[in-house]
Amino acid sequence: MSDAPEITPEGVEAAVADALAAIAAAPDTAALKAARAAHAGEGSPLAAFNAQMRSVPKERKAEFGKLVGQARGQVTHALAAREEELASAELSARLEAERIDITAVASRTRTGARHPLTLLQEQIGDIFVGMGWEIAEGPELEHEWFNFDALNFDEDHPARQMQDTFFVDPVERHLVMRTHTSPVQVRSLLERDLPVYVICPGRVYRTDEFDATHLPVFTQFEGLVVDKGITMAHLKGTLDHVARQLFGAEAKTRLRTNYFPFTEPSAELDLWHPTFKGGARWIEWGGCGMVNPNVLRAAGIDPEVYSGFAFGMGVERTLMFRSDVKDMRDMAEGDVRFSEQFGMVV
Ligand code: DAH
Repeated sequence: MSDAPEITPEGVEAAVADALAAIAAAPDTAALKAARAAHAGEGSPLAAFNAQMRSVPKERKAEFGKLVGQARGQVTHALAAREEELASAELSARLEAERIDITAVASRTRTGARHPLTLLQEQIGDIFVGMGWEIAEGPELEHEWFNFDALNFDEDHPARQMQDTFFVDPVERHLVMRTHTSPVQVRSLLERDLPVYVICPGRVYRTDEFDATHLPVFTQFEGLVVDKGITMAHLKGTLDHVARQLFGAEAKTRLRTNYFPFTEPSAELDLWHPTFKGGARWIEWGGCGMVNPNVLRAAGIDPEVYSGFAFGMGVERTLMFRSDVKDMRDMAEGDVRFSEQFGMVV
């Protein structure tokens, strides 16, 4: 220890000042640990002063002992204080980083539900697919020829106005937003080989009011059968089957004479709704009839060999009295709270 520094008040003071400066400057507990080793550890100046005590003459031991002891005490104290300070700062930083804001607004994204009209359309489709029929589709922007002419509507047939058609510019192109799904009859006959058994669900457009019982855009399903030997009994049997599938074993249909250019004979189709909210009753459901020979001819089919039947119903109307919906506008507005009532089918 001969090369150990001599104990002097200035030397001790300088060592303490160095130690305190290093302790105060330590930015974190790791740096403080290094400062402790350097200024209070074995190889530190203060440790060297301590070791030097042995060679201090007896009469000065008390004086230097106090000097070095106080210095060590001062540094130890500063280390403890800084350690506490840093530990608490580090804890708050960690708590801040790991903080979970339980006041945050929860996500309001709700699970959607499939629209009851879509579900009913699919259910209707399934009933027909179950009988071996195919699902056919056609465009919503339709050529006037398919929507009217091929279906045996005269050039100036009142139905063209009766149906209050949306004609699309330029008029010379003869395009209309289809007023019914019946044009898919002709498309199906042109596209497919005979016999044809198709169900055609889809959206149709009329310049109707938007009120509790009318929508300017609504949905129909159209049925068409063309085969050899088809009679009205096949039509009636099919409609009764579909009525029972949708409205229960007690349901049935009845036909009342009517006129449609594309069927002959034509009938108004009523449904006996056994579980109607206000009591079992007849409800106007749609139109039907035997395919007019002119329609078969328009599709290049010989009416002497083939015959067929067709029918058309509104899906909104069907949903309305099947599920007791009072206002059709609820079906158009897309509020999930409406759809939810039909079960959250996703
Ligand atoms: N297309 C008719 C309408 O929208 C409904 C209809 C009536 C369809 C008789 C048919 C049918 O297939 O045979 O009012």
